[in-house]
Amino acid sequence: MCGIVGYIGHRPAQPILTSGLKRLEYRGYDSAGIATIDDDARVTLVRAVGKVAELEHAVATRVTADTVGIGHTRWATHGVPSERNSHPHHVGRVYLIHNGIIENYAELADVLTERGYTFAGETDSEVLAALVDALLPLHGTLLEAVSGALKMVVGTYGLALLSDENPDEIVVARRGSPLIVGLGEQETFVASDAAAIVGHTDRVVYLQDGEIGVCTRGGIALYDVDVQPLEPAVEKLQVDLASIQKKGYDHFLLKEIHEQPEALRATLRGRIDPETNRVQLGGLNLTDDQLRSIRNVIVVGCGTAYYAGLEAAYLIEQFTDDVTIRAEVASELRYRSFHTPKNTVALIVSQSGETADTLACLQELQRRGVHCIGIVNVVGSTIAREVDGGIYTHVGAEISVASTKAFTSQVAAVTLFGIALAQAKGMSRQDLVRYTDEFALLPEAIEAALASVEEQVRDVVRTYSDYSHALYVGRDTLYPIALEGALKLKEVTYVHAEGYAAGELKHGPIALIDDSFFEVCYLQDNWLREKSVSALVEMNARGAHAIVVTNVDRELPAETVIRVPTTADLLAPLVFNVVSQLFAYYMAVERGTDVDQPRNLAKSVTVE
Ligand code: BG6
Repeated sequence: MCGIVGYIGHRPAQPILTSGLKRLEYRGYDSAGIATIDDDARVTLVRAVGKVAELEHAVATRVTADTVGIGHTRWATHGVPSERNSHPHHVGRVYLIHNGIIENYAELADVLTERGYTFAGETDSEVLAALVDALLPLHGTLLEAVSGALKMVVGTYGLALLSDENPDEIVVARRGSPLIVGLGEQETFVASDAAAIVGHTDRVVYLQDGEIGVCTRGGIALYDVDVQPLEPAVEKLQVDLASIQKKGYDHFLLKEIHEQPEALRATLRGRIDPETNRVQLGGLNLTDDQLRSIRNVIVVGCGTAYYAGLEAAYLIEQFTDDVTIRAEVASELRYRSFHTPKNTVALIVSQSGETADTLACLQELQRRGVHCIGIVNVVGSTIAREVDGGIYTHVGAEISVASTKAFTSQVAAVTLFGIALAQAKGMSRQDLVRYTDEFALLPEAIEAALASVEEQVRDVVRTYSDYSHALYVGRDTLYPIALEGALKLKEVTYVHAEGYAAGELKHGPIALIDDSFFEVCYLQDNWLREKSVSALVEMNARGAHAIVVTNVDRELPAETVIRVPTTADLLAPLVFNVVSQLFAYYMAVERGTDVDQPRNLAKSVTVE
């Protein structure tokens, strides 16, 4: 996915556009560009490969006082990261920035080539710019030309366009990719998400699929794709500036790891009645009878959100006995001919609320009549708007591409849903108190773990930072934690890491063990302790360099032992997970990788 910004007002646009792009850089950082237009319709186009900082250098050599402009930071899908494939694309009288994928761009390019158009790059977006330019003389206004073009394209888009046909407007449009318009005093802002608008205004319009807007200094005029007027719904922005700043930490990743206790308190706030211990989730749009009738739960997500669903599924199985719960990878489920038995509910897990594969699963499950509950963090996001019910995780903005605080709160939110389900089905008071008390203690347990292991983890990574391979192993509720731990290491250190169920090692992966690997083993002091110790012993027999993450208070046969001081039982995996996060962070710092914006990744992927 990419980041889009736009500004039309009374202040110089260039600095507003580049600072907006800086805040959206987690959406893609392969190249960036801006185009501004002056009152005489002269356009200044500046583009650069790489991060927004490169663009700022280039802009510094071409400063203008223009008060209208658009800007883009790219996550490459079609065409390699390069200047010619950077946005804004300029074709004829049109300047265009695009977030999404135009699936029929090749056919359109053929038609346009016959009409004499040539293309500087390989992107689908440049073809769309040419199409709008081709239609401009026929329709006369940019709005009409965009409407005409969008009727011919297949795909997803968040768009913003300028034309020297009229320097006092920016035309925007949305289908599938998010777009927000911020309304200020005689100035209007355009952005892919709220981070670029925070601090400028808190009055916003979230464009819906199929809407086109004309932004002027006075605000936005909204239309449907047939250019029929629509009434914009103005809402209050729910993000604060502090949450998108580093607050003195070197990286957003470390800040967000340390924010987990507070984030969790926000996720739990008002959801467990302190008197009765009853779980109360107001946004499910399900009656107790409907809750009681549920027999199947599908939890859907991508990346870390999928692992959060998997972890919660393992936890919920422990206190429900007439419910089948399964976690599914969204990009797989959307194309599988899966079966949805009666009495099925789906939990749609997404931090950003914009991930295309997860959104597609939501739409498919709703098409099948399944009640879909969103476990979402970004307020007002597409998934949050389209689900039938929801639980916001309220963790604040998560900026680092590798997800941490959202994971912990996603597991908590899905598990709370599980307890609400069991509660409606007659969970014993004893169990209700046992599980909800564990939740009440979890923020402190994570605080204590952070305080007690961080120093040790920072030292330990120095021993393992030169390794290029790692195996993460866990059993039962620690298996998804092994998968998530391995993902974190891959994401931010580029070390090849694989997560495995401890019992599976002897069926193949144990063959990998040699001096080029280190092994991270999660070992909880519970009924499976000895099983996990024997897996550890089996690895040691093959010369493993094992790091054990554990709350077992006795000697363990391992090269390194990181002891996590927790008495948590059901939720201990969430405390252990903090060690994986710190390990990946300090390993990334040790290896000098780009911690918050790892190569080839983006915060959420709004394209398929
Ligand atoms: C990836 C992010 O692009 O998308 C991951 O880098 C994230 O951190 C995954 O887990 C899913 O994103 P979301 O927003 O749907 O939870």
